[in-house]
Amino acid sequence: MGERKPFMAANWKMNLSLDEAEDLLTKLTKATIDFKRVDLLVAPPFTILQLAREILAGTEILLAGQNMHWEKNGAYTGEISPLMLKEAGCSHVILGHSERRTLFFESNDIVNRKVDAALSEGLIPIICIGETLQEREENKTSDIIRIQLEESLKTSCQRRSLPNHVILAYEPVWAIGTGRTATPQQAQEVHSFIRLWIKNTFDHKTGQAIKILYGGSVRPDNSKELMSQPDIDGSLIGGASLSAESFLSIVRFYEA
Ligand code: PGA
Repeated sequence: MGERKPFMAANWKMNLSLDEAEDLLTKLTKATIDFKRVDLLVAPPFTILQLAREILAGTEILLAGQNMHWEKNGAYTGEISPLMLKEAGCSHVILGHSERRTLFFESNDIVNRKVDAALSEGLIPIICIGETLQEREENKTSDIIRIQLEESLKTSCQRRSLPNHVILAYEPVWAIGTGRTATPQQAQEVHSFIRLWIKNTFDHKTGQAIKILYGGSVRPDNSKELMSQPDIDGSLIGGASLSAESFLSIVRFYEA
């Protein structure tokens, strides 16, 4: 893993009431976490951001939006701008999650616009990519990942520069919420492909520094082995991040 500090991100998706969120966030703030060894981020629904900001104030736990629009403001009913996320206390934003791509028709082009907007507004994008089961079975995984990278980072590719604090998340669609995790070897293979692509497209230093998270049915019992892979730098955790106990046990993989 070298210089890359492990990064654990909780994606709550459309879950938890205010009371449940308060309970979970309070437990996270009280837990003993070695922040020298791991960074921690929580991405709650928009309506919980304000509460999360208050509870997490003064802690090292980071806050993210789960999505955003690429424009600064305007007639975009139902949308949230990068600045609004920043004002709500977010330093990061998850972009191009497979649920956004599949259920809300987000194309690579839309993801590219959002990545640009996040970067110009000073938010760190966590950019999700991953293949479907059919694509994997047809041996198309690396083609799909390459196309997603090329197109979701199109503007950055044209400029030939990508800030090395951008975070990528490899989430095989067939592993999300299904209980079916990629084996550590399957995940490592794709992570190493992604890192090589970043090195070849940008430069060696960016490729070495960029964090690549794995997401898809990460649990306390598989976190340590995933984290032992050389190119897996952390996790994006859905279901298992909704309970303090399981999330903390994933976060504290270094103790296991
Ligand atoms: P999961 O979700 O951990 O519930 O599979 C991961 C994600 O979608 O980010």
